[in-house]
This record gives sequence, C-alpha cells and structure tokens, in this order.
Amino acid sequence: MTNVKKEIDTAGTVHPAAEMGCSGCHPPHRSDLARLFTRSFPAGPYAFGAEGAYELCAECHDLDSLLGDDSSATGFRDDRINLHRVHVAREKSRSCALCHSAHGAGEHLLRPTTPFGEWDLPVGWSAIEGGGACVSGCHERREYLRDVPLEPPGDLPASGGDQEPASGS
Ligand code: HEC
Ligand code: HEC
Ligand code: HEC
Repeated sequence: MTNVKKEIDTAGTVHPAAEMGCSGCHPPHRSDLARLFTRSFPAGPYAFGAEGAYELCAECHDLDSLLGDDSSATGFRDDRINLHRVHVAREKSRSCALCHSAHGAGEHLLRPTTPFGEWDLPVGWSAIEGGGACVSGCHERREYLRDVPLEPPGDLPASGGDQEPASGS
C-alpha cells in the first residue's frame, strides 16, 4: 500500500482536497482507507460504466463538462477530441486514479506509475509544446496537441485502447 503521507510530502502538486484533510473522501475511523469512500469511486483501475461511478470527484469537479462532447472543457484533448471522454466515458471506464493521484503527484496530479494488480505500470506523461505525451503501460507512445488536429485525422485507438496493459509475466 502507498504511504500516503509520503506521497503528499514528496509531491510536486498536492491536491487541494487532500490539504483539507482525509475525511472529505474517506470515512473517518475506518482502517481500510483504500476501499472505503464517502461517495462512489471504483476500487480498481476500471469502473464498468462511467455513469455515477465517480461521485467522489463530482462533488467538486464538473464531470459533465470534463467527460462531455465539448473538448474545450479540458486540456486533455486532441483538438476536438476530448481524451477524458475517450478514456473514461465508456463501458470499461478507466478510473481517474489510473492516471491521477487524489493525494499528490506531478503536474496535473498525474502519477508517474500506477498500481495495476501486483505491478506498477508507467503512466509516463510529459508536457510537450501545446499538449502532452504518454509513454504508458497501456499503449505505445501517444501525443496530443490541444489545438492541432491529429495527422492523419482520427489516428486514435478506435475504442480508446482496449488492449490490456502488458502484465509483465
Ligand atoms: C479527493 C479525495 C481524497 C482525499 C481528500 C484523500 N484520499 Fe486517499 N484515496 C483517494 C482515492 C481515489 C484512492 C484510491 C486510488 C488510489 O490508490 O490513488 C485513495 C486511496 C488511499 C489509500 C490507499 C492507497 C493504496 O495505495 O492502496 C490510503 C491509505 C489513503 N487513500 C489515505 C488517505 C489519507 C491519509 C488522506 C489524507 C491525508 C487521504 N487519503 C485523502 C481519495 C482521496
Ligand atoms: C473537496 C473538493 C474536491 C474533491 C472532492 C476533489 N477535488 Fe480535485 N481539485 C480540487 C481543487 C480545489 C483543485 C484545484 C483547482 C482545480 O484545478 O480545479 C483540484 C484539482 C484537481 C486536479 C489537478 C488539476 C490540475 O490541472 O492541476 C486533478 C487531476 C483532480 N483535482 C482530480 C480529482 C479527482 C480524480 C477526484 C476524485 C477522486 C477529485 N479531484 C476530487 C478539489 C476537489
Ligand atoms: C488516461 C488518463 C486519465 C484519466 C483516466 C483521467 N485523466 Fe484527468 N487528466 C489527464 C491528463 C493527461 C491531464 C492533463 C491535460 C493537459 O493539460 O495536458 C488531465 C487533467 C485533468 C484535470 C485538469 C483540468 C483539465 O481537464 O485539463 C482535472 C480536473 C482532471 N484531469 C480530473 C480527472 C477526473 C475527475 C478523472 C476521472 C473522472 C480523470 N481526470 C481521469 C489524464 C487522465
């Protein structure tokens, strides 16, 4: 289990929600913090259907915009394609926690690696001019440019990348 105090103390970016304490998201006086939340949030890397799965975050973040059709609502976009929507608003929904730490991490709270079963998979995000790049355990290196369409247009995983991350075994 992650040492959350250390995660926060060493983070470049601390989540303001975590600066306010722990009980906003975890019920107080419970030992199993990892699994218990004050509102819905999936325990593993996926939720099955995004609808209602991330109420914990919806308390402060506008998920309708973040996951909507309008890509201008997020910096995680490739021109008109909302990449939050691509990853999250789907039947096999990638949890926010797959990419972000809710406690503290790097820029945009993006974590360098993510626990996946027994493995730590790289998330591998870095800023590039006008966008970002990921060298993740889930797919080959991909880049997005917020205001420049992909060349060739639509060069996206048609379904947002349904491959399983390599298990390492
Ligand atoms: C904004 C909501 C939020 C706040 C505030 C928050 N957490 Fe969490 N916490 C999460 C989420 C989401 C997860 C599960 C995903 C993950 O592992 O990052 C989690 C997981 C954990 C885990 C399990 C980690 C693991 O690797 O299994 C611990 C322990 C924990 N939190 C402790 C804390 C402590 C201590 C605080 C206060 C300093 C805190 N949390 C504040 C949302 C929050
Ligand atoms: C109690 C309110 C609160 C809750 C609950 C909350 N957040 Fe936040 N979050 C904030 C605030 C305030 C900021 C800083 C302002 C901003 O960037 O929106 C922030 C910032 C962030 C950022 C960084 C934005 C950036 O570009 O630096 C991410 C990512 C994020 N939150 C994810 C989450 C996730 C995932 C959850 C659910 C597990 C969550 N938040 C729950 C209040 C909250
Ligand atoms: C596949 C990885 C991934 C997942 C899953 C993901 N995010 Fe993000 N998120 C990012 C990246 C990358 C950025 C940085 C975008 C940029 O500015 O280049 C980001 C940025 C953000 C921001 C800053 C504002 C913005 O949209 O640019 C917030 C808030 C946020 N995410 C919240 C969430 C919440 C809440 C969830 C779950 C419902 C979530 N994210 C799921 C990768 C992800």
